[in-house]
Amino acid sequence: MEKVLRQFFLFLSNNKLLTALAKRYGFRFGASRFVAGTNIGHAAEKIRELNQKGMSVTLDHLGEYVTDKEEAIERTKETIKSIKVIDKLNLDSQVSVKMTSMGLDISDDLVLNNMRRILDAGKEHNVLVTIDMEDYERCEKTITIFETLKEEYDLLSTVLQSYLYRTEDDLQRLNKYSPNIRLVKGAYKESAEVAYPEKKDVDENLKKLIALHLDNGNFTALGSHDDVMIEYTKQYVEENNIPNDQFEFQMLYGMRNELKENLVEQGYNVRVYVPYGRDWFGYNMRRLAERPANVLFVLRGVFKK
Ligand code: FDA
Repeated sequence: MEKVLRQFFLFLSNNKLLTALAKRYGFRFGASRFVAGTNIGHAAEKIRELNQKGMSVTLDHLGEYVTDKEEAIERTKETIKSIKVIDKLNLDSQVSVKMTSMGLDISDDLVLNNMRRILDAGKEHNVLVTIDMEDYERCEKTITIFETLKEEYDLLSTVLQSYLYRTEDDLQRLNKYSPNIRLVKGAYKESAEVAYPEKKDVDENLKKLIALHLDNGNFTALGSHDDVMIEYTKQYVEENNIPNDQFEFQMLYGMRNELKENLVEQGYNVRVYVPYGRDWFGYNMRRLAERPANVLFVLRGVFKK
């Protein structure tokens, strides 16, 4: 049953009509649990609250699969604005961006120009920018963009997904940059030709990647809510004398809040991925696919007075 629900929500996450309708009419539904608000003002308040609890943030202006050049430019401007706000309000936050939001599906020049503008702002305001990883079809392009930009900018990080067979090679390929990388399991619908179909293999591969990236001496962000992965990382860093400033635990806004607080109390670095904006539909459907139990939280938001 879980598998069927997962496929269903992943199918919805990609639906253009529902995405457009949700953007236009349905913010309350999306805002209820996993999204910090529609604008940067709302998001800044949430960042402040999280910072006060000892957590850092990476801020994401929601949006993906943009096909209109003007929209990609608008999204670039919004991300630059968020970087300025982070600096102005002295918030402890980085930003995360999706390449399809910056024009990846339109042209390479557009996405690179937009990213250079964002990275210039990141440099000026000392804010690290992470390139989120999207579906397999865009993986090689995303990694190539990361490589191109990493030659020019320091404050740049990216994400690799343990469900892909190719990821161990990608991690070794990027090692020459000593990069800060967020390691995750992967959130998109992929075929068995490119991704492990069994969860246990995805989990084993994530452990392998965590160990490899840490052993290579690189900053490792574990993006996971899974106790098993978190415990594995805690044990691995302890056994290998890896200092606390070489890794962090990242979790999504609205999820596992108690666990986040416990990790902070135990002295670990915790970063919360905070999305904001109107384009919440695809993001939320992927969260439902990961954990159908989240449906209850979302429904509670819909019917809340
Ligand atoms: P998973 O869903 O595998 O669950 C494993 C176990 O963890 C569960 O059985 C349960 O015990 C526990 N658990 C999980 N969620 C829980 C919850 N909410 N409450 C209680 N227990 C829970 N993906 C991607 O493709 N590209 C990207 O760029 C990113 N970026 C990203 C950033 C951050 C900060 C995070 C946390 C995640 C991503 N992801 C992502 C999503 C990621 O790929 C993955 O889909 C989700 O994190 C779900 O996998 P988990 O490892 O969290 O646990």
